[in-house]
Amino acid sequence: MSLAAPLPFIDLKAQRRRLGPQIEQALARVLEHGAFILGPEVRELEAQLAAYAGVKHCISCASGTDALMMVLMAKGIGPGDAVFCPSFTFAATAEVVALLGASPVFVDVREEDFNIDPASLKAAIPVAEAAGLTPRGIIAVDLFGQPADYRALQSIADAHGLWILADAAQSFGASYDNRRVGALGDFATTSFFPAKPWAATATAARSSPTTMISATCCTRSASTVKAAISMRTSALASPGGSIRCRRRCCCKK
Ligand SMILES: Cc1ncc(COP(=O)(O)O)c(C=O)c1O
Repeated sequence: MSLAAPLPFIDLKAQRRRLGPQIEQALARVLEHGAFILGPEVRELEAQLAAYAGVKHCISCASGTDALMMVLMAKGIGPGDAVFCPSFTFAATAEVVALLGASPVFVDVREEDFNIDPASLKAAIPVAEAAGLTPRGIIAVDLFGQPADYRALQSIADAHGLWILADAAQSFGASYDNRRVGALGDFATTSFFPAKPWAATATAARSSPTTMISATCCTRSASTVKAAISMRTSALASPGGSIRCRRRCCCKK
């Protein structure tokens, strides 16, 4: 028996073979009109993603990491704040909390889906308080395409006055309780890193002009939208981007 060739983690060449001409035409259109930053294709992407997810607002930015950061900055997260994160996720989920000077509080994950465990979350809240931190929010990650247990998480969030940020980098396209990922929690972020499900679907759906955008943040809160848009254009998009946040000169509470 011969060994099958290993599946490549990312196969952009296959995508290129299928969609090359459309991508080139889209790029040529952008080069022609010259609106490289936040141009009409970006607006179109935001509108399409918002409609797909079933949310009112969608704000695009450079990466899934920046999207997480934008939400936390819009919520004024900083030193002394506790943000609950699953202990099994990509580093970006917790890294953004620490970058803003707040404390990521790690919560155990469930054996069945590796997503944040509501029972462990419940237990972590008084522990964070006893350590002198102010619980502010939960970042629920939908690992490997499977949404977290949002029903259980929402009842804990409601009981403690916390918001839920759904890190849907790995799950855009999935649904939970007849709602699409993107419309779960108070805010949702995703990623267009080529290995992610949405990057693959977006290109397959021939949204080629939009493949230049690598992440979005969906939210239903108008005030968070306003703050996130201002973060995108003033903090994240400025030279140095999130480095400014690390120095804590742009993210005062
Ligand atoms: C769960 C999770 N959150 C956030 C990110 C960060 O996304 P990006 O690579 O677009 O910054 C990733 C990427 O691997 C991820 O898997």
